[in-house]
Amino acid sequence: MTPALRRLHPSPTAATTVREAYDVTRRPLPGRPWIGVCMVASLDGSVAVDGTSGALGNDNDMAVLHTLRQLADVIIVGAGTVRGEGYGPPEKAGQRIGVVTNSGRVDVSTPLFTTGAGFLIAPHSATIDGSVEVLRAGDDLVDLTEAVGRVVEIDAGTRYVQAEGGPTLNGALLADDLIDEIDLTISPRLAGGAGPRLTVGAPERIRGYDLAHLLADDDGFVFTRWVRSANT
Ligand SMILES: NC(=O)c1ccc[n+]([C@@H]2O[C@H](COP(=O)([O-])OP(=O)(O)OC[C@H]3O[C@@H](n4cnc5c(N)ncnc54)[C@H](OP(=O)(O)O)[C@@H]3O)[C@@H](O)[C@H]2O)c1
Repeated sequence: MTPALRRLHPSPTAATTVREAYDVTRRPLPGRPWIGVCMVASLDGSVAVDGTSGALGNDNDMAVLHTLRQLADVIIVGAGTVRGEGYGPPEKAGQRIGVVTNSGRVDVSTPLFTTGAGFLIAPHSATIDGSVEVLRAGDDLVDLTEAVGRVVEIDAGTRYVQAEGGPTLNGALLADDLIDEIDLTISPRLAGGAGPRLTVGAPERIRGYDLAHLLADDDGFVFTRWVRSANT
């Protein structure tokens, strides 16, 4: 049974639902869609155990991921996560998933691509094997700012892009100041090991985020939603 969920902030409630909490207005920015990063992390800040995030989540965390997917227009994800977690096509009819890669080394024979849902976001220099739609941005490395600005070429009218990691893609989004929202589930578990943090590789610089909501469930999972602070 899915553990009961309550809201602690704002305006505490005895009960809420994932849909009620996460189905909020998100407005595109000038020249690009709103971008939200959805991740789960352990108490010690790891986002991967044994190469996947599966051991960190629970039913409510999966509901957060799937609800945000329903609300988002386009999903983007790093090639490492697709290679490690075996991404399939989305549940939402017609939704597109952009796999970000510099190398172009992505298996496009999987259902993610054969269903027509998957496309690649790659630099002009990347050699792509197989027949797949490619959004080219950047010469030798993906220019993410250009890519998210042009995602409407893939899905016209895109207002909200959900970024589903991993840490390298998140770090690149952060480096380009493209993270408008962070939907972070905190798992009540220590992971140890050498798993990466939520972002990897971005230059060290403090950016502020405001707490939009804080939920908790009976399993001890904490569900946070953060929005880029107007003051940074
Ligand atoms: N806890 C969570 O919520 C969560 C979510 C997602 C992933 N994860 C975990 O994170 C781990 C993977 O980490 P990772 O950092 O390797 O993931 P990643 O960001 O998905 O993959 C890195 C690869 O993606 C491509 N890439 C990422 N950013 C790029 C950019 N800005 N431009 C061009 N290419 C880019 C590159 O692919 P090429 O090598 O093809 O150039 C790069 O080698 C896995 O263990 C996964 O389970 C956890």
